Amino acid sequence: MIYGIISYFRSLLIVGFLVIFSFIGYVYLLGIDYKMKLDFLYFLLSVSAVLITYFYARYWKYIVMPYSLNFHSIFSHNTLIETRNKRTLFLDYFVSKEKMKPKSVIEQIYTKDLKRFSLEYSNFTSIDIENYRQSAEKILHYLGLIDKRFEVSIYPQKSKSVQLSFYKLPEFYEIEMGIFKKDHLLLGIYEKGFYYRSLDTLDHHLIVGESGSGKSNFMHLLNINFLFNMHRINKMYMIDLKGGVELKAYENIDKVEFVSDIERLDALLDDVLLDLKQTQELMLKTGVRKLNNFTLLIFDEIGAVSVYPDKKIRESIFNKLALIAMQGRSSGILLFLFGQKIDNTILPTSVVNNIQSRVLMKTTSDYNINIIDLKDNIRERITATEIQDFNKGRAILKDGLTSDKHLVQFPFISDSFLSSILSYYSKK
Ligand SMILES: Nc1ncnc2c1ncn2[C@@H]1O[C@H](COP(=O)(O)OP(=O)(O)OP(=O)(O)O)[C@@H](O)[C@H]1O
Ligand SMILES: [Mg+2]
Repeated sequence: MIYGIISYFRSLLIVGFLVIFSFIGYVYLLGIDYKMKLDFLYFLLSVSAVLITYFYARYWKYIVMPYSLNFHSIFSHNTLIETRNKRTLFLDYFVSKEKMKPKSVIEQIYTKDLKRFSLEYSNFTSIDIENYRQSAEKILHYLGLIDKRFEVSIYPQKSKSVQLSFYKLPEFYEIEMGIFKKDHLLLGIYEKGFYYRSLDTLDHHLIVGESGSGKSNFMHLLNINFLFNMHRINKMYMIDLKGGVELKAYENIDKVEFVSDIERLDALLDDVLLDLKQTQELMLKTGVRKLNNFTLLIFDEIGAVSVYPDKKIRESIFNKLALIAMQGRSSGILLFLFGQKIDNTILPTSVVNNIQSRVLMKTTSDYNINIIDLKDNIRERITATEIQDFNKGRAILKDGLTSDKHLVQFPFISDSFLSSILSYYSKK
């Protein structure tokens, strides 16, 4: 409080002096008697005072935040006169607050529930970004944003500034056909708007979350994306070994094969591996390094394999999956594995370690949390919400190519939306 008031008066003084100096320069240059223009000087002084007061009143909590949370840099210097180290404290200062705008009109319409703004802070000597990162939750608390379920990301700006990007994802929104994009997967809304993943760099995905977290809903989102990009798909295997009906609904679509029997799956994986081998040979011969089209294996509940009583079949399937995980990517043969819990009794590390893109939904299991490398308090850098408190459709998504991690909200896909899509794409 005291700091804020001192800073306010200091700003008044500095700007006051600046105005007076400019005024002196102005009358001197034009060679007029300053007394004639005193009214003008008073006018300028009052306008600047009003502007500064307005600025301080409006941004008060942002201005005093660095002081309250101890954001500063220490500048050590040796003077010739004094040999001992002298240290000066430079407090970070508030620069600006901005509203972030959507990239396009379509985004503006569909992401209207995504709230965001950013703050910029600077320092005269240097800025300690790490300090901000570690204090992310404190910042949200201090600004009263934690209860409003805002999140914050911290980015370096120029050399001596930091940008705090605040955002609140929608908790619920429905899917719309208009937001799908050719040659991309629409994966939801994140900090910066729609989250798209290019098909050109697509890799294997592992998706984990407890029952009811929204995995199947996300699986339908992926499937609809693939249907929308059918020109890039050779074949989609939809595998559900727990007797579910969710994937069966896709059965009548061209290029889709529904698999519900584990022995059938085992045989089918042989076909996929044969295909993989032939593709690799062809690629070697023609010198092509990556294929544009995909064969997809989508598993709802991979855990169903590990509980199957016949050990031989289990091992056979896992060995084949490990091969596909290791070699399939460049041949366009991709795995999408969904599971409630992933540890090495459920899915061998030879499979897990070769799946680079990961999606973590609501869970209390540390095994699950580990699959997305959230060690060393990294979770706190991504979200202020504990993973066990995630709402339905909320996820941390790790891009296997860049290793970037983002908090994402998936759209809700209603039964009626899904059935209209399915009947549109079903064989006539
Ligand atoms: N993105 C979302 N937005 C809002 N509600 C959702 C979202 N995703 C899922 N839900 C709701 O949560 C319920 C459970 O979702 P879903 O069936 O996808 O969970 P799951 O993780 O597949 O569970 P299980 O492991 O038991 O199969 C759904 O009935 C749906 O109503
Ligand atoms: Mg499910």
